This record gives sequence, C-alpha cells and structure tokens, in this order.
Amino acid sequence: MEKLSGILVGSVNIVGNATLVYVNTTITDSAVLECSIQNKNITDWSNVRFYWQDNRDFVLYSYNEGKKMAEHVNDYYKHRVTAFPQDIIRGNISIILKNLTLEDNGRTFWAFAAVLDGSVMKRYHLEHTQICQVTLQIGVPYQNPMLDVNMETMTAVCTTQGGFPAPEIQWVLLYNSSHQSVESRNIQTTTMQNYHDRLYGFHSTLPIPAGPHKAVSCHIHNPTLNRTMTATHTLNKGAGVTSSPECLTSAAVFLLTALHWL
Ligand SMILES: *[C@@H]1O[C@H](CO)[C@@H](O)[C@H](O)[C@H]1NC(C)=O
Ligand SMILES: *[C@@H]1O[C@H](CO)[C@@H](O)[C@H](O)[C@H]1NC(C)=O
Ligand SMILES: *[C@@H]1O[C@H](CO)[C@@H](O)[C@H](O)[C@H]1NC(C)=O
Ligand SMILES: *[C@@H]1O[C@H](CO)[C@@H](O)[C@H](O)[C@H]1NC(C)=O
Ligand SMILES: *[C@@H]1O[C@H](CO)[C@@H](O)[C@H](O)[C@H]1NC(C)=O
Ligand SMILES: *[C@@H]1O[C@H](CO)[C@@H](O)[C@H](O)[C@H]1NC(C)=O
Repeated sequence: MEKLSGILVGSVNIVGNATLVYVNTTITDSAVLECSIQNKNITDWSNVRFYWQDNRDFVLYSYNEGKKMAEHVNDYYKHRVTAFPQDIIRGNISIILKNLTLEDNGRTFWAFAAVLDGSVMKRYHLEHTQICQVTLQIGVPYQNPMLDVNMETMTAVCTTQGGFPAPEIQWVLLYNSSHQSVESRNIQTTTMQNYHDRLYGFHSTLPIPAGPHKAVSCHIHNPTLNRTMTATHTLNKGAGVTSSPECLTSAAVFLLTALHWL
C-alpha cells in the first residue's frame, strides 16, 4: 500500500495529515479514528468519497454520493462504526468505532479518499489515496491489587488479575511521609495470561528486608491506560523488623516486567 502525503485527486492536490497516530483506549469503549482532508483548494465536499479499512483489508466504513455504502462493510465492523455527517461536508472523514474488544488491539486503520473534480468529465482521476493512519491500543484495567503480609516469614505477596496488557510491577518501602525507596532485590514475579480472554494476572513476592520502614506497597501500572493501582500494608512497628545499615543504601531501581504483549 502506498503512503503518500499529497497526490492529485480530481484537479486538486490532496495533502493529508498522513501521520502515525496511536489511540489508547479502554475495552468496551469507543474510539474516534480522526481524519481530515487538508486542502484549501477543495471548496465543494459534496462529491467526497472515502473509505476506512484495517490491516486485514476489512472495510469499516465506505461513503459515496452523499451516503454510507453499507454493502461494502465487513461483517466484523457492521453496526460498530458510524461517521459524522455534519463533519463530512467540511472534509472531516473521521469515524467512531464502538464496542472495542481485544481483537481490535494493535490494529491499524487507514482512510482513503478522493474528491470528484468539478469538470465536465465527472470522474475520479486516481485511485483513492491514503490520507490517515491510526493504530489502536486497547487496555483492560486491573482490579485493585491484594497485598498480604506474613510477619512470621517476613514476606509480602501482591496479586491481581483481569488486566491487559501485562502490568509493570513495583515494590516500594515507605519510611515516613517524605522518604521511600523502590525495592528490587529477590522479588519473584509470575505473570500469567489466560488463553481464552487474553487477560493477565500476576503474583509477586517480596521478602521484606529488615529496616526502619513503616509500610510496604505494591504498585501495578497498566502501560496502555497509563493508570497505576496501589495497595499498601502498614507494618507493625518493631514486629520482627530490625535495623540493618545495608538496607538504607538501596538504590531506587525500577522493576519493570518486560513482557511482550500481542
Ligand atoms: C491549489 O491550487 C493551486 C493552483 O492550481 C496550486 O498551485 C496549489 O498547489 C494547490 N494547493 C493544494 C494544497 O493543492
Ligand atoms: C472531525 O470530527 C470529529 C467528530 O466530530 C471531531 O472529534 C474532530 O475534532 C474533527 N476534527 C477536525 C480537525 O475538525
Ligand atoms: C460488544 O461486543 C461483545 C463481544 O464481541 C458482544 O458480546 C456484545 O454483544 C457487543 N455489544 C454491542 C452493543 O454491540
Ligand atoms: C524520613 O526518613 C529519612 C530517612 O530515614 C530521614 O532522613 C528524614 O529526615 C525523615 N523525614 C521526616 C519528615 O521524618
Ligand atoms: C499507549 O499505550 C502504549 C502501549 O502500552 C504505551 O507505550 C504508551 O505509553 C501509551 N500512551 C499513553 C499516552 O498513555
Ligand atoms: C501518564 O500520566 C501521568 C500523569 O498521571 C503523566 O504525567 C504522564 O506523562 C503520562 N504518561 C504518558 C506516556 O502519557
């Protein structure tokens, strides 16, 4: 597929905003796939013709002669896509894709358009030109993490499930209102993905080091939704926690689970 930023369509040159756009959104929500034909030479949009298709060549939306051409739309997108008729007449060919699922995650969509020239020839001179590209990244929020602390074994266990993509996990030791440190030693994290719904769950164990910290917290970050959930457990003062100088020198190292997601 050609990627062109400007091409003759009809008698005018369409210069599209053919930039790579990423849209992050939440499952079951809707996403606007934005696209505007930028061309001052076009004054009459009544003969605009456009379609959107995905990276499998499935057509999401097709528009010609002032109306939606429903017969061209792939079943996968039927009833999920609408345009904005009041905006099309200004060259804005954005559409909205509803009821997003993880099937839509990572998918790229392209808009192609042409405008009939005003000449007596009454035809489209060229094939439709790609003018916009949008990639969707879908996230599923994680449930609140559960944090269990065993004071006998001095271990903290953080668990959560039902999110997407794989989370980034961080353990933090809290000393007082202004001082905390990120703990990265001896942590054991297991991330599991459910093959049916593709959702992730994880289980992370921290051996609580000796030190003057008052609380331990587990942060889980959803990279697509840019949302972090935190669970904090206050440690009983003195209960098995003894001071050790080595613990005060721990550097703040971010522990990110570098997991690939589809
Ligand atoms: C608009 O038309 C003029 C004259 O034909 C041409 O020089 C110019 O490149 C066109 N601009 C665009 C953005 O197509
Ligand atoms: C195009 O229309 C959509 C839907 O109404 C809107 O969200 C978007 O801001 C518009 N874009 C421009 C450049 O006008
Ligand atoms: C949204 O998608 C889900 C899963 O594909 C489906 O079960 C549900 O009926 C859809 N809802 C609407 C309103 O289309
Ligand atoms: C917090 O703890 C740090 C390290 O122990 C200490 O340097 C700092 O003065 C404490 N701040 C407050 C407000 O207690
Ligand atoms: C969108 O999601 C990607 C993939 O998870 C992430 O790398 C990126 O930072 C997210 N963008 C925003 C604005 O949150
Ligand atoms: C994530 O959100 C924070 C504020 O909550 C913001 O400062 C940061 O820039 C965001 N990250 C991305 C990648 O958009």
